[in-house]
Amino acid sequence: MRTILVVGGSRGIGKEVVKKLLPENKVVSISREASDLEHVNLTQIEMDAVKGELPELEEVDGLVYCPGTINLKPFSRLSEEDFLNDFEINVLGAVRVLKAYEKNLKKSAQASVVLFSTVASDMGMTFHSSVAISKSGVEGLAKSLAAEWAPKIRVNAIAPTITDTTLASKILRNDAIREKMKERHPLKKILDPTEVAELAVYLLSNGSRSITGQVLKMDAGMLSIKV
Ligand SMILES: NC(=O)c1ccc[n+]([C@@H]2O[C@H](COP(=O)([O-])OP(=O)(O)OC[C@H]3O[C@@H](n4cnc5c(N)ncnc54)[C@H](OP(=O)(O)O)[C@@H]3O)[C@@H](O)[C@H]2O)c1
Repeated sequence: MRTILVVGGSRGIGKEVVKKLLPENKVVSISREASDLEHVNLTQIEMDAVKGELPELEEVDGLVYCPGTINLKPFSRLSEEDFLNDFEINVLGAVRVLKAYEKNLKKSAQASVVLFSTVASDMGMTFHSSVAISKSGVEGLAKSLAAEWAPKIRVNAIAPTITDTTLASKILRNDAIREKMKERHPLKKILDPTEVAELAVYLLSNGSRSITGQVLKMDAGMLSIKV
């Protein structure tokens, strides 16, 4: 049985990843507050993965890093602290976790890492300068590590468009805005966290054994087609 570490498995996309990985895998979930999920194959660790001392683990065959930010403001209102905070959570947090478990991943016969970017790294969007810098960093990290760790460990990133989670709740704050967001996408939808989780689980699985160094865009058509 493989062991998958999900950092941020208590809510949003990460929680859906955990639900899909059980019961076939052992799952270790790290988040500041545990979720309501209970299963014999699930271990939940309550801690700040960006700042705290990460626990020793035995086996880690797959790793998903979910913490992220949507700190949208005009450039003139973004402080240096905003940029640093976004960078710390999105990029340095992932770096810390990957450094902590690199040795475990290297011992695995079939290791896979999944990071999260955003469509705003690919397409310029107003008020996204801080998050776009950080997520572009995540994409660079995914590609660099995919090269450095091949052929032992695969590393990929998923770049979703707006997804219905607590992180996006400030944006998706009423029905009118939700409809407007749907209209912006050729597929006329916002993403459900379960469909993003499906892609993450695929990237962790043997089915994606020839995919590494990729940024997979789940964009509901927004970046690639015009209708
Ligand atoms: N939702 C969207 O519209 C959207 C769009 C594009 C990209 N993304 C990216 O997709 C990823 C997942 O997003 P999401 O919407 O599922 O986020 P979410 O709903 O905010 O969930 C984030 C998860 O990470 C945990 N977490 C946050 N900070 C942490 C820390 N310091 N230490 C440990 N755990 C921490 C949270 O639990 P605790 O708070 O209990 O720690 C939670 O389990 C993010 O990287 C995000 O940037 C999301």
